[in-house]
Amino acid sequence: MFIGAIGCEPLQLKRVQLENSRSLDVYRKNGGYEALKKVLDGMSADEVIGEVKKSALRGRGGAGFPTGMKWGFVPKDSPKPKYVVCNADESEPGTFKDRYLMERDPHMLVEGMLIAAYALGSKATYIYTRGEYRYLIELIDEAIEEARAANLVGNKILGTDFSCEVYTHTGAGAYICGEETALLNSLEGLRGHPRMKPPFPAVAGLYGCPTVVNNVETLTAVPDIIKMGGVAWQKLGTEKSGGTKVWSVSGHVKRPGVYELPMGYDDMEKFIMEDCGGISNGRQLKAVIPGGSSVYIMPASDIVGKNVLMDYEGLVAAGSMVGRQHRGQVLLPARRRRRMAHPVSDQEIPRRLPPPPPADGGQRRAGQRRLADDLELRSK
Ligand SMILES: Cc1cc2nc3c(=O)[nH]c(=O)nc-3n(C[C@H](O)[C@H](O)[C@H](O)COP(=O)(O)O)c2cc1C
Repeated sequence: MFIGAIGCEPLQLKRVQLENSRSLDVYRKNGGYEALKKVLDGMSADEVIGEVKKSALRGRGGAGFPTGMKWGFVPKDSPKPKYVVCNADESEPGTFKDRYLMERDPHMLVEGMLIAAYALGSKATYIYTRGEYRYLIELIDEAIEEARAANLVGNKILGTDFSCEVYTHTGAGAYICGEETALLNSLEGLRGHPRMKPPFPAVAGLYGCPTVVNNVETLTAVPDIIKMGGVAWQKLGTEKSGGTKVWSVSGHVKRPGVYELPMGYDDMEKFIMEDCGGISNGRQLKAVIPGGSSVYIMPASDIVGKNVLMDYEGLVAAGSMVGRQHRGQVLLPARRRRRMAHPVSDQEIPRRLPPPPPADGGQRRAGQRRLADDLELRSK
């Protein structure tokens, strides 16, 4: 398995291969908690949000919403407590980048959460993982306790007036709990069903209070943005999608792994055929699922010779996307469509709808044709 950066210096993956990479000692010796210190030494909350805006960081949970703008929506004058919640559900089949970051470099996430909390005026933050990631909770809790012992978490952090807790929480392992409002329900101990939006979590989130929900990789990008400055970090990527991005690669490539690439990497064909070593067993590229199994599948004809840039705009222009962005049905081959149809799609609708009518003969025949197409494609 390949772990590393291509086309840029590793930022998110900088420490992951060091011995004891998850220890506070290794994290600090390699630049860890310098960004938090810089923030507490004299940056205002608005300055922190300003740097994140300048960085053109877009949420890594799929929708690519500008993070600085999301942070700016949190009402500063609200008398209610504010919360930062890390979406570590990562339940999209085929994705494992967040797991890797948390497993190998948990302090990077803790530092990102603390900086976000400072910027948003929050004193309590939560890391929510899917049920299957329960083993990560132990690792992250260890990191939190190490950080607490070094006065980096808890009361009067680094001797300043900033106090903040980081809590961990796991769901029971439901795909839908990756959707941010279902996640918040689950965190509150309710059934993990999505809520109607608006109101958005920034205004009424956890316990009805202003809440920012961000993906793991979004938050782990924050320490580098603060250290380098937002503009310098943005320049690693494109004008609209700054920085670097971590991609999980699995399937029939010779070098699967966790790859960090500059945003807008040029291009997907080169990435698969050269960087990932090409297709294994002498076979040909048939299709790529770029953002987990619920995004649009890109057939090889959409990739080969098409110069698909690897960022939000590039993948949308090519007819797919970086990750899950909406609750609607997506085009899937028959088998995966069946898997998604029940119970996922009815869970994704935040209110009860009548069940769909049974398939008629035409639909059944169309379904069988699609299945035959799938099987033919798979046999090639
Ligand atoms: C059905 C569904 C599942 C989702 N699963 C995840 C997930 O596992 N991890 C994640 O970070 N975002 C997931 N999202 C996106 C979140 O709702 C939300 O947009 C994200 O946590 C925001 O963080 P970001 O701005 O840092 O991307 C999902 C969305 C939907 C509609």
